[in-house]
Amino acid sequence: MKDDGYAVRAEGLEKRYGEKRALDGFDLTVRAGTVHGLLGPNGAGKTTAVRILSTLIRLDGGRATVAGLDVARQAREVRARIGLTGQYAAVDEVLTGRQNLEMFGRLFHLGGRRARARAAELLEQFDLTDAADKGVGDYSGGMRRRLDLAASMILTPAVLFLDEPTTGLDPRSRGEVWESVRALVAGGTTVLLTTQYLEEADRLASRITVIDRGRSIADDTPDGLKNRVGGDRVEVVVAERSDIPRVVKVVARVADGEPEADETELRVHAPVTDRVGALTDVARTLQDEGVRVEDIGLRRPSLDDVFLRLTGHRTETTEKEAAA
Ligand SMILES: Nc1ncnc2c1ncn2[C@@H]1O[C@H](COP(=O)(O)OP(=O)(O)OP(=O)(O)O)[C@@H](O)[C@H]1O
Ligand SMILES: [Mg+2]
Repeated sequence: MKDDGYAVRAEGLEKRYGEKRALDGFDLTVRAGTVHGLLGPNGAGKTTAVRILSTLIRLDGGRATVAGLDVARQAREVRARIGLTGQYAAVDEVLTGRQNLEMFGRLFHLGGRRARARAAELLEQFDLTDAADKGVGDYSGGMRRRLDLAASMILTPAVLFLDEPTTGLDPRSRGEVWESVRALVAGGTTVLLTTQYLEEADRLASRITVIDRGRSIADDTPDGLKNRVGGDRVEVVVAERSDIPRVVKVVARVADGEPEADETELRVHAPVTDRVGALTDVARTLQDEGVRVEDIGLRRPSLDDVFLRLTGHRTETTEKEAAA
């Protein structure tokens, strides 16, 4: 396999843990200089894929190149060109942000002076200069993730793997991490980012691969993916089943497509483009008509919607929640 503009190429990757097939013929191509989203629910195989591509574990079948190098046969060369931020932070709580980065620099054999200079540069780039000399134990979630990103950038890798960089962060910290990722890519790094959030992949990635049970089930642009799912929807939940036909009629007037009625959940939903206009119109009309509305709102497509559309089933997490 040649480089040909791809930072990552994986074909038919297999990884088994006993009976469990964590990867089961997984394919992926990532164009150099882009952010690529690997989107999938809990247990889909995202971390396993990242571990194989970053040479932390061996594959059982298939082949993969990163920066044009074979992950199985040229693991050492691959390692010299990549950075990895794991699902769980690797920074030391007791040290300050600056001390952490200097320590990583020395681990990478930069030497004291260069390690200090690189740490200062990265603190600046990730907007951590003010907090540089505070202990990491006092950092917010977003600051820690940014420090994590900085630590994986010590040697300016060609390809950076980010495994769920914002899971567990509040919206503001999440936005800060997104900004940092954008800055990295502007600097020429290719990023493969795993996430469970469609919104995150949408905001950052130019292409998204959807993974389910160890296989790639879609590879598309964010817009392409959202279009398959049908974009934003207006959703009404009523108190009385007998009101459903009336609600369907009202919603149909503002919708871009056929409203769908879910009789068991007393819910009517339909795709809309003029989101706020549609919502206000439906709310007002239903009130005028005296329909008892339990809930009304706008819904952006979620990972779960993507799954339902692509696979006909919900994500396993949601199935479990529904059963509980
Ligand atoms: N070391 C291991 N031993 C046994 N099974 C494993 C191991 N690592 C992963 N698995 C299993 O392989 C499957 C894929 O796991 P993986 O961690 O790659 O998923 P993931 O997409 O990263 O999930 P999450 O979103 O929860 O991080 C899961 O069913 C998991 O339980
Ligand atoms: Mg994972």
